[in-house]
Amino acid sequence: MTTLTLIFFLFLGSITANPIALPHRYHKSHGQECPENGTLDHTNHFSVQNMVPVSASQPTVALGSSITALITPNDYCTIFNLVVPPSGLNKTCNLELLIPDREQAGFNYMFAGPGHFTFTGYAFGPPSLLTTGNAYVINVGPCGIQPGMEGMEVIGLLCSNDTTFVYQQSERKCPIGFFVTIT
Ligand SMILES: *[C@@H]1O[C@H](CO)[C@@H](O)[C@H](O)[C@H]1NC(C)=O
Ligand SMILES: *[C@@H]1O[C@H](CO)[C@@H](O)[C@H](O)[C@H]1NC(C)=O
Ligand SMILES: *[C@@H]1O[C@H](CO)[C@@H](O)[C@H](O)[C@H]1NC(C)=O
Repeated sequence: MTTLTLIFFLFLGSITANPIALPHRYHKSHGQECPENGTLDHTNHFSVQNMVPVSASQPTVALGSSITALITPNDYCTIFNLVVPPSGLNKTCNLELLIPDREQAGFNYMFAGPGHFTFTGYAFGPPSLLTTGNAYVINVGPCGIQPGMEGMEVIGLLCSNDTTFVYQQSERKCPIGFFVTIT
């Protein structure tokens, strides 16, 4: 946690130091609106519980867990887990990745690179190219929870070969991160 927080703030530090490195996508949002399909119905969604960044180059370094995702080209991937609640019984779970641009999100985060990502573990045919200012459906399927279960944990892994993506899961203004909507 401490190491991760440090890394996160190092990234923030470099954003401040090198503003020219930020992709300029502000023109896409025309102000305050969230991406299409990029908002949550507050009665029937749940959020990622936990995210654990893992490094290919330093596999023995434990980074702890947090609500911060850290993905770097061919190195850090982030394991995310979600716990499907009992209300998912006989329902469909829609896993979404919401990536408002910075103006829509209302705070800064890092997204730099062409945007090729891979999902492992919980995906039926996700887009391989992600850009800011959009909302993506990663998986649609039965929630899978059985009668009597208190919750069912689902785990996924997000990696990239060419893009740095560092953000804190948030539901402020336009939500950012992984969410599941139950329908
Ligand atoms: C938004 O959601 C609707 C209903 O699921 C879908 O038809 C539409 O294509 C989505 N829009 C985008 C930009 O993904
Ligand atoms: C869920 O589906 C099963 C099998 O179709 C059915 O027997 C059960 O009554 C359903 N439960 C609820 C709460 O809808
Ligand atoms: C990353 O992967 C995508 C899709 O497989 C590929 O098109 C792209 O060239 C790769 N980029 C790098 C830098 O390897």
